[in-house]
Amino acid sequence: MTIRSVIRGVGSYLPANVVTNEELSKTVDTSDLWIQERTGIKQRHIAADGEMTSDLAIAAGRQAMERAGLTSDDIDLFVVATATPDQTFPATAAKVQAALGRPGVPSFDIQAVCSGFVYGLSVVDNFMKCGQVKSALFIGAETFSRILDWEDRGTCVLFGDGAGAVALTAETGQGSTADRGVLSTHLHSDGTQHDLLYVDGGVSSTQTTGHVRMEGREVFRHAVVNLASTVREALEANDITIDDVDWLVPHQANKRILESTAKKLRISGDKVIVTVDQHANTSAASIPLALATGVDDGRIQTGQLVLMEAMGGGFTWGSALVRM
Ligand code: ACO
Repeated sequence: MTIRSVIRGVGSYLPANVVTNEELSKTVDTSDLWIQERTGIKQRHIAADGEMTSDLAIAAGRQAMERAGLTSDDIDLFVVATATPDQTFPATAAKVQAALGRPGVPSFDIQAVCSGFVYGLSVVDNFMKCGQVKSALFIGAETFSRILDWEDRGTCVLFGDGAGAVALTAETGQGSTADRGVLSTHLHSDGTQHDLLYVDGGVSSTQTTGHVRMEGREVFRHAVVNLASTVREALEANDITIDDVDWLVPHQANKRILESTAKKLRISGDKVIVTVDQHANTSAASIPLALATGVDDGRIQTGQLVLMEAMGGGFTWGSALVRM
């Protein structure tokens, strides 16, 4: 008998304000052509003034919970993956918990930037596997627009705001890849690569929020290698091949990274969920937003095998294999 963390419901929320490349090019020295050619991004959603990460998280979380047929009374654990919390403390997850009306149970945030969703899924899965909780609401939510330097065209065109959520319950499985739920997670980090992707501020260093700084080419190069490697280890650990995977749901950083990784893995583009064109890079929110897109439009079905992979600042990277 094996405990499996089964995704019962998926939710999403995107701020109403859509900013196209064309609109962005009125205030930033860029063009729709450059952005589309280099990244595949066509538009991004930007949170309104006063709209916070917790607002996005609450909306996505509520939808995931409702779709799972759960109420907040059923939830044993609230986790939010975010690099853009409302405040330094308390955790954004505590605000979500309060808004959804479930005081008393644990709530905390996970900080692994763009890898936040696979890191958080791993944490939630381990809470379930050791029997500490029987259900969880796990949300990836970001307002990255708040930490962009709008004068730096090399970074500000790449990101957007949004939230995606999953409601999970612990179920009994047979211990095979036929089980529904999280089948494996693999996590990595390499803090020596700090200078390639970071925010140049923080509570303890500058007492400011800071802005995203990135060596784009270097990040690109590492991303393709690390992502392909963490997908391969997921396949090997589960004794399956890439052909057994129904859907690749990658972190949505850049269409060229998605294509290069898919090519390296020899997976057909038809099996890759792509939302970067519509959402841009929403960091920890990008995988659950892509998952929600695939579920909502009927491509991702219950019982199918979904492989998620991500890489972000740190560097951090990892994968999660899930039977829906
Ligand atoms: N609009 C127009 N021109 C631009 C822009 C822009 N927004 N940004 C940069 N340029 C110019 C540069 O100034 C440079 O001009 P120059 O040749 O006159 O000096 C030229 O375009 C080429 O710049 P590069 O930075 O070398 O462009 P590159 O081809 O590497 O593309 C990009 C940049 C898109 C950022 C690419 O490196 C990339 O995708 N990297 C991956 C980074 C990423 O996705 N990070 C997300 C976070 S990490 C993650 O989630 C995995």
